This record gives sequence, C-alpha cells and structure tokens, in this order.
Amino acid sequence: MINAVYQQAAQEVRQSRSDGRTKAESLLEEAVFNIDVVERGKSVHNMNYSQELLSVSLDKIEEALLLAGSSYKPDRTSFRPQNAQNACLSCHSGIEEIKSPVFGLSFPHKSHVLIQNLACATCHSNAKKHGEFIGSKSTCAACHHKDAKKDCASCHETQKIFYQGGTLADMKIPKDIMAEAETDCAACHLNKQKQVVRPGADSCVECHGEESYRKKFQEWRDSIKTLAQNLRAALGDARKAALTDEQKSQASAVQSALTAIEQDGSLGIHNHAFMEDFLTRALKKIKSLGTPSNNEQTDLH
Ligand code: HEC
Ligand code: HEC
Ligand code: HEC
Ligand code: HEC
Ligand code: HEC
Ligand code: HEC
Repeated sequence: MINAVYQQAAQEVRQSRSDGRTKAESLLEEAVFNIDVVERGKSVHNMNYSQELLSVSLDKIEEALLLAGSSYKPDRTSFRPQNAQNACLSCHSGIEEIKSPVFGLSFPHKSHVLIQNLACATCHSNAKKHGEFIGSKSTCAACHHKDAKKDCASCHETQKIFYQGGTLADMKIPKDIMAEAETDCAACHLNKQKQVVRPGADSCVECHGEESYRKKFQEWRDSIKTLAQNLRAALGDARKAALTDEQKSQASAVQSALTAIEQDGSLGIHNHAFMEDFLTRALKKIKSLGTPSNNEQTDLH
C-alpha cells in the first residue's frame, strides 16, 4: 500500500518541472529508506516504532509532492492504525516478527499488518474462540492475484510440481499428460476477464469439445477423494498398531506425501494418473503395516 503511494509519488516528481524537484527527490530517497528498513525488519522489532517510521515516510512523501507542485494526495486515513488493532497489539506486540504456517505456506505477519496495514480482524475473530483464524484462500487471493501476469508457479510450487513433474515429499512425479501437451495453468485457471478462477467441469468440456469430460471431471475427483480418505484412515489405524522403527518411517513418509497431495487441492486434476497410482500403492502398503503377522506367515509358507 505504501509502496503504491511511493511509486505514484516518484512518478509525479519525475515529471515535475518545478525548482524543488531535486529536494523532492532526496526526500523521496529518505522515505524509501525508512520503508525499506521496516520491510526488511532491520533493527525493528517493535510495531509502534515501525508504524512511526511509515508515518514519517508518508510526511516526507507529502512534502516532496508539495515541492514538486503535484496535486496528488495520498489517502492518509488508510494508514492510521485502527484502534481495534492497537487493542490486540497491547498483548501481541512482536506479532510482526511471527511467521505462521497456513495453506502450506509460511505466512509473514510483517508484510501484511505493517506494509499492507491489514486489520487483525481481516483474518482473526474473537466470536467463537479467541484469535480464531477466519481468513480463507480467497481472502489471500484477492490481493495476491491482482497481478495475474506473474508466473503462477512462483507462489504455487506444490501445484507446479504435480503438474509439471519433479520431486516432492520423496515422490518422483512424472509430468501430467495435459502438461505434456503444453496446456498451461492459465488455460484452465484464467477466465475471459483474465481473472484467476477455480475451474469447474465446464472448462474441461469447453476445451475438449465433448460433454463426456464433465463425467470424467467428477470421476477423477471422486476417485482421489475416496483414496485419500481411505489412506488417512489407514494411517490412523497404523499409528495405533505396534510398528517397528522401519515401519514408522514408512508411515511417516506416506503421511508427508498425502499432505502434499491434499495441499495441491485439485483432487487429481493436476496429475490424475500419478496421484491415483501413488495413493493406491500407498494404501496397500499402509494396510499391510497394520497386520505385521501377515509378513511372517508369508515367510513361513
Ligand atoms: C489481554 C491480552 C490480549 C489481548 C488484548 C488480545 N490477546 Fe490474543 N492472546 C492472548 C493470549 C494470552 C493468548 C494465548 C497465547 C498462547 O497461548 O501462547 C492469545 C492468543 C491469540 C492467538 C492465537 C490463538 C491460537 O489458537 O493459537 C491469536 C490469533 C490472537 N490471540 C489474536 C488476537 C487478536 C486479533 C486480538 C485483538 C482483537 C487479540 N488477540 C487481543 C492475549 C491477548
Ligand atoms: C491476512 C491475514 C492475517 C492478518 C491480517 C493477521 N493475521 Fe494473525 N495469523 C494469520 C494466520 C494465517 C495465522 C496462522 C494460522 C492459524 O492461527 O490458524 C495467524 C496466527 C496468529 C497468531 C498465533 C501466532 C503463533 O504462532 O502463536 C497470533 C497471536 C496472531 N496471528 C495475531 C495477529 C494480530 C495481533 C494481528 C493484527 C495486528 C494479526 N494476527 C493479523 C493471519 C493473519
Ligand atoms: C491486502 C493484500 C494482501 C492480503 C489480503 C494477503 N496478502 Fe500476502 N502479501 C501481500 C503483499 C503486498 C506481500 C509482499 C509482497 C510479495 O512478496 O508479494 C505479501 C507477502 C506474502 C507472502 C510472502 C511471499 C514471499 O515470497 O516472501 C506470503 C507467503 C503471503 N503473503 C501469503 C498470504 C496468505 C496465506 C494470505 C491469506 C491468509 C495473504 N497473504 C493475504 C498482500 C496481501
Ligand atoms: C504472488 C503470489 C501468487 C501468484 C503469482 C499466484 N497466486 Fe494463486 N494464490 C496465492 C495465495 C497466497 C493464495 C491463497 C493460498 C493458497 O491457496 O495457496 C492463492 C490461491 C489460489 C487459488 C485458490 C483461490 C480460492 O479462491 O480459493 C487458485 C485457484 C490459484 N491461487 C491459482 C493461481 C494461478 C492459476 C496463478 C497464475 C495465473 C496464480 N494463482 C498466481 C498467491 C499467488
Ligand atoms: C486441466 C486444468 C488445470 C490445469 C492445467 C491446472 N489446474 Fe489448478 N486446478 C484445476 C482444478 C479443477 C482445481 C480444483 C478447483 C476446485 O476444487 O475448486 C485446481 C486447483 C488449483 C489451486 C487451488 C488449490 C487449493 O488449495 O484449493 C491452485 C493454487 C492451482 N490449481 C494452481 C495451478 C497451477 C499453478 C497450475 C499450473 C502449474 C495449474 N493449477 C494447472 C485445474 C487445473
Ligand atoms: C485448454 C485445453 C484443455 C483443458 C481446459 C482441459 N484439457 Fe484435458 N487435455 C488437453 C490436451 C491438449 C490433452 C492431451 C491431448 C489428448 O490426448 O487429447 C488432454 C488430455 C486429457 C485426458 C487424457 C486423454 C484424453 O484425451 O482423454 C483426459 C482424461 C483429460 N484431458 C481430462 C480433462 C479434464 C477432466 C479437464 C478439466 C479439469 C481437462 N481435461 C481440461 C487439453 C485440455
């Protein structure tokens, strides 16, 4: 947010023919230095101090705009820390240094509560349970997808590996058949307005030109959903059984792989052939761990 204001101000100053332009440029340099300090967290471990630095930066930007004779006025109200936010910070000072795991990502509070100035209430509620996380993937995507031109894979590594092939959680994943045919992420995920969407069965039918792909879409997703559920249940049973260390490490490898498949979130669309094959084999293996005596019997006969 403050970066956007800075960009706009820098442009105004660059275009200015006023005598104050040189002074304006040096004020902008000071402002950007402060913003940078906050962003990088250099010696800033205190939210109030960081807010102050950003506020000083804004003063400098405003002064620079005045010197440059620009009519652009940043909206200051959107930078004022909300009272409710301060109430949270009285107990949670230091939250800006905390990164929290969510949706398979490491979520940095700093860029969001300091630089973006998001209210805590965007993502947390006290209604049911103190501090409950109420954000959703679409809360995040609303901002992160503003620049849909950016390479999807720069933020969606998991999906990229399932689709394009590679190694993830000890799985060797071959390239998906549609990726082989050079269908890219955008072909399924961008609508006509170039917005990122969650594609439904219509997208399959549209590109393949056959109504039967509607059924295929459903079948693929049902099969992966069922396999994943069964595997989760089998892992639960295995955890209760007495396993050798070797078996425990097999189970935990399968658990990591399952987590990656769940985090992919496409229920098999990104690589149905691989996911179905992997889950089927993993299920067989984990079920056999639950009944160790079987192995001994097969050995005896
Ligand atoms: C009076 C002090 C106080 C205030 C004010 C306060 N909290 Fe907390 N909060 C706590 C304590 C204590 C914990 C538990 C810390 C722990 O278990 O490590 C906590 C935990 C949390 C957690 C973690 C919950 C979890 O399940 O792990 C979140 C998120 C949170 N608070 C958000 C907020 C938000 C948002 C506000 C403002 C609306 C707020 N808090 C105001 C004291 C406070
Ligand atoms: C854009 C979303 C977002 C905003 C805004 C946000 N948080 Fe969080 N916060 C998260 C996520 C995601 C987690 C981790 C997931 C969970 O708690 O289930 C988290 C976790 C926390 C935790 C627990 C940290 C831990 O590891 O013990 C606290 C405390 C917390 N937030 C406080 C705050 C406070 C205070 C604010 C406002 C200054 C705030 N958050 C703003 C998304 C957000
Ligand atoms: C108001 C807009 C906004 C919202 C809402 C938002 N973000 Fe961000 N997020 C940003 C900006 C801006 C950055 C810093 C610039 C960047 O790295 O893209 C950032 C940075 C991040 C980063 C670090 C990226 C990196 O490469 O270091 C992660 C991870 C992230 N956000 C995840 C989330 C998640 C998860 C949510 C939802 C719980 C969320 N964001 C909600 C704007 C937002
Ligand atoms: C700058 C980072 C970033 C880029 C680039 C990005 N995304 Fe996202 N996207 C996110 C974050 C953060 C979320 C929320 C957490 C998650 O689902 O991983 C998200 C969520 C999604 C979702 C779920 C949306 C919802 O409403 O539940 C889809 C689908 C998606 N992205 C597809 C894409 C595609 C396709 C591209 C490329 C055109 C792309 N993303 C580019 C960061 C990004
Ligand atoms: C053949 C079509 C297709 C292609 C190609 C495709 N996706 Fe998807 N993707 C889907 C479908 C279908 C879903 C599930 C949507 C749902 O369940 O709502 C999905 C889900 C997602 C999600 C959301 C996962 C979640 O957390 O819920 C992300 C992120 C995503 N895809 C990113 C990508 C990226 C990145 C690429 C390219 C490397 C890609 N997709 C290629 C069809 C596709
Ligand atoms: C933008 C175009 C495009 C979209 C959208 C698309 N596909 Fe494909 N798909 C292809 C191409 C290209 C191939 C590889 C060539 C071939 O064998 O037909 C392929 C191959 C397939 C195959 C294996 C071979 C075959 O032709 O039957 C299946 C099954 C399939 N896609 C299902 C789906 C499903 C389900 C969706 C919706 C999530 C979908 N596709 C979305 C282009 C697309």
